[in-house]
Amino acid sequence: MQSGILTQQRALLTQERTLDTQRRPLHARGAARGPQQLAAEVRRLAARPADWLSRVRLNPDGRWYERIHLDDSWEAWLISWLPGQATGFHDHGGSAGAFAVVWGSLDECVAGSAGGPVVTRAEAGTPSAARAFGPRYVHDVRNSSAATVAVSVHAYSPPLASMTRYDLTPGGLVASGTEGAEIWLPPGRRVRGPSRRSSRPRGPGCCA
Ligand SMILES: [Fe+2]
Repeated sequence: MQSGILTQQRALLTQERTLDTQRRPLHARGAARGPQQLAAEVRRLAARPADWLSRVRLNPDGRWYERIHLDDSWEAWLISWLPGQATGFHDHGGSAGAFAVVWGSLDECVAGSAGGPVVTRAEAGTPSAARAFGPRYVHDVRNSSAATVAVSVHAYSPPLASMTRYDLTPGGLVASGTEGAEIWLPPGRRVRGPSRRSSRPRGPGCCA
């Protein structure tokens, strides 16, 4: 499996061109964006691999995530997933969000009306690839593939400030703890500029 993963990573990297996100002008200050606006942003990012492809990393210790855009209105993250890596159930601290799978596929799990999990697949290159959600949304996202990596781009507005984690019990979702941005942002990177980190159980989005 490892050789297959390395082959996929090489395939990603051969498409690498120029990454210059840090020199791109930040978007002007503005009001918070809604789910459909964020969906448009992740589709735009998904269509521009030169802006993020060189930041794809595969880390056996946890999902690799890196912020690729931040302004006062919204932020965007790139997340790289090895097979089996997952977020666990989480909310987004009151931020709306959207994500698009740009390589491989991800399974998104939500608590169904009957209390059990409902899983849908988001697959790169298909209409299912992009998802958007409001500020009260709770989900678990995972790469359920046995041998295929996944890469996704995520957008949040306002930028994530906290996340609450949940356990899905027979009685529904039960909060298990809340973490602030200091958990997933390295010291000194909490205001502006790209941030990167790997994480086993935590991190922004479907995140992170
Ligand atoms: Fe999420």
